Formats: sequence, structure tokens, C-alpha cells
Amino acid sequence: MSANKPVRVALLGCGTVGGEVARLLDEQSAELAARVGAPIELAGIAVRRPDKHPEVPADLLTDDAQALVDSDVDVVVELIGGIEPVRTWLLSALRQGKSVVTANKALLADSSADLAEAADATGADLYFEAAVAGAIPLLRPLRESLAGDRITRVMGIVNGTTNFILSAMDATGASYAETLEEAVRLGYAEADPTADVDGYDAAAKAAILASLAFHTRVTAADVHREGIADITATDIAAAKAQGRTVKLLAICERVVDPVDGSESVSARVYPAMIPRTHQLAGVGDAFNAVYVEADAAGELMFFGQGAGGAPTASAVLGDLVAVARNRVLGSRGPRESAHAQLPIRPMADTPTRYHVSLAVQDKPGVLAQVAQVFAEHDVSIATVQQRDADDTASLVIVTHTATDAALRATVRDIEQLPVVHEVISVMRVEGEDA
Ligand code: NDP
Ligand code: HSE
Repeated sequence: MSANKPVRVALLGCGTVGGEVARLLDEQSAELAARVGAPIELAGIAVRRPDKHPEVPADLLTDDAQALVDSDVDVVVELIGGIEPVRTWLLSALRQGKSVVTANKALLADSSADLAEAADATGADLYFEAAVAGAIPLLRPLRESLAGDRITRVMGIVNGTTNFILSAMDATGASYAETLEEAVRLGYAEADPTADVDGYDAAAKAAILASLAFHTRVTAADVHREGIADITATDIAAAKAQGRTVKLLAICERVVDPVDGSESVSARVYPAMIPRTHQLAGVGDAFNAVYVEADAAGELMFFGQGAGGAPTASAVLGDLVAVARNRVLGSRGPRESAHAQLPIRPMADTPTRYHVSLAVQDKPGVLAQVAQVFAEHDVSIATVQQRDADDTASLVIVTHTATDAALRATVRDIEQLPVVHEVISVMRVEGEDA
């Protein structure tokens, strides 16, 4: 038994993740006390509908989260989600000097500056490992292990629902709608899957990753976002025919201007083709994986379960043990590091590569007309493949790196060429040397 007084915890939320946290706190209490150097005592659990939680001792339950935060607790673990009223409760906890552990990516991607300032004002801890990539230890490596290195790129699959959908489309050739239905049936996607399929969830995670990697405050509003709802079986087949696969990627990059050497941060989420030989291509089902490049460390890969009650609870409990230890020792974990304040690079100025599939007239001079449009926008072509069928040819063009604005303008003008029957598929290409 430890001589230290218990660390008292308020748990806000007892759903998929909170329920697992409550269960593990109970089951592992002796082990956790030994690791922390003091017992962790669950002071109360705030939920919306206490009558729906027969699994929780009634004396622990409340529907008044603010009162629980204001009670005699040392740490607030927030597993409700969304911005308000959670933001108000967590700011109030931090201003009272209570440490906060949260998995709430939407809130962090919106209000991390306010939360960090409130934590700094009282010396409280703010930990959020579970907010990105569930069980995968990723934020602590970025925040602590790589704090002495210069990170240049973080690229990953950070949304399990969309990875399940795209992997299934690739494996079966099925349509987006059919595969989404399957994802809902299996419980991967919510009945309203908007946050996942439209890329909001991944964009919030990209904002958190970019903030940590580049010591710069990045919010969800700074992240260029495109979802997967418009991906067709034709896009997937076009990728496959090229030895590529389609993944929804969160990409956070330190972009160095080739002219003046100035640095900026690009944070973006979109579906992209990657080579089937790329490490991220083999990440299937609802798994997450994140690839980090740093000057001294080189390439690092993080892989595992990015969602689900127990995996996410693992990351939450890791944070809880860390902040409880800090309480016992009278110390504090790392503060927000936002000293670099690099500017955000607009998507239009961001260097990317495109794959463009076209159905064109099969007659002399067509390829030259198409190539001319690329040249007019200063976009260099890397490869061209042509296949003929009757009087129509299919052209597959992959570009070298150009700004996104130039690439978009090229596609827009190609659509207008009379010799082009149809633009079949346009998608960015990542994970290959330009
Ligand atoms: P759930 O919807 O399963 O649970 C939410 C909980 O919050 C429920 O217990 C609900 O109460 C409670 N709640 C909602 N509104 C209030 C309120 N106004 N006052 C008090 N309690 C309230 O969510 P999850 O467990 O899935 O997610 C929790 C957090 O973890 C979110 O931020 C999410 O983004 C994040 N996360 C989730 C992952 C996952 O796989 N599920 C993975 C990584 C992060 P009641 O039970 O009475 O309805
Ligand atoms: N909806 C998210 C996903 C949960 O599918 O990855 C984890 O944040």
C-alpha cells in the first residue's frame, strides 16, 4: 500500500471509451496504484442519462458534469466529445489547477491554444494521446521522444472507418455506397458517418499532429480537407491498373520555399493514390498507421488500432498514469510548444502530383494537344500510358510535382478540349519520388 494520498479522478462520459476506462480502473486498481505510487480513486462519473447505466454504482453517477469538475478531484478525464459544453468544463478544470486527460480531437483542433493557456496559468497537465490514432503511442513520441529532432513530414491513415471502406472497395471492386453500408452494419461507421467520410475527423487529427510536429498552432480550419464520398469504383480500378491503391491520407509537411528558403506548414487531408509497395498500402481494415520523417531519426512508422473502446482506453489510462505520477511527485509534464509559429501554406501553393485518366479521340495530334495544356500551366508530365478501344483512346497521365493551383487549372482546361470525351479520374499521387 502506498503512503501517498489517493489521486481523485472525475470521469466525464461513460460510453464506448469511458465505459472501458471505468472498467479497467476498477479491474487494474492495485497494479495502477503501484505504478503511480498512490491509489487512483474514481470520484464520480458524469453522463447524460444516469438511468441508462446500471453497470455503474449509482452513487458514482451524476448528470451534472460541472459540479463533478468543481468537487474535490485532482484529474478530469473527458470522454464525451464535441466542443461545447465540454470546452467550458475543461477550461474550468484547468483554471482550478486540475489536470485534464482527453480523447477529444474536435475540441483540441478547435481550442488547444485556450486549453494550453489555462493549463499554463495553474501548472496543470493537459494530456491527449488518445485523440489521434487511438491506441498507437504517437503524440508522446512527437512531443517528447522527437523533441530534439527536426520533423519534416507526418503522413498517415488516421481514420479507421474510411480505411475500412477504401480497403474493402480495393479488395472487392464494390461501390462506395455498398461498402459504406457494410461499414455501418459492422459498426465501424456511425449511422451518421459524416465526420469520418467527409474527412472532418482526419482533419482534426492532422491539426493536432501538425501542431506537435512543427511547434506551431494549427487548427482544423487551417487543414485543407477532402473526403472519400466521391471516390468511385472506377477511381479504385484506375489506381489498381497503375500498381497503386487509394487511401485517405492526413499529410503534415514542413515546406521549404525553393526561392527564399522560408518555411511553412502544409496540413491536408484527401484521398490519394499511393504505390501498392508503400508501407501504408498494406494497412487494411480499420487500422491506422502513421509515417514520420525527421532529419536525424530518418523514417519511423507507427501502426495499430486507431479506434474502439479498449484500444482507446489504453491510451487514456497511459495518460492518466502519467498525470497522476506528476501529481504524486509534484511535477508537471511537457507544456505546449508553439514557439515556431510557422505560417500555414495555402493548398493552392502546395506542391503535389496528379494522376489524370482521360477518354480521348483516337486520332493524330490529340496527345500533343493534351500535352500542350500541361505545358501552358508549367506542369511537367512524368508518365503517359495509352490504351486504344475502337475510335476512343484512354490516356493515363501522372505528373511531376507542381503547385495544386497549377494542377487544378490544367485539369479544368483539359476538360474543355473538344478532343477529350471525358475526364475519368483525377487524384493526387503521394508516397513516390517526384
Ligand atoms: P460515446 O458516444 O460512446 O459516449 C459519450 C458519453 O458521453 C456517453 O456516456 C454520454 O452519456 C456522455 N455524454 C454526452 N453528453 C453529455 C453531457 N452533456 N453531459 C454528461 N455526459 C454526456 O462516445 P465515445 O466513447 O465513442 O467517444 C468519446 C470521446 O473519445 C470522443 O471525443 C471521441 O472523439 C473520442 N474517441 C473515440 C474513439 C472511439 O473509438 N469511440 C477513438 C478515439 C477517440 P450517456 O451514456 O448517458 O448517453
Ligand atoms: N471515427 C474514428 C475512426 C474513431 O473511424 O477512426 C477514432 O477516432
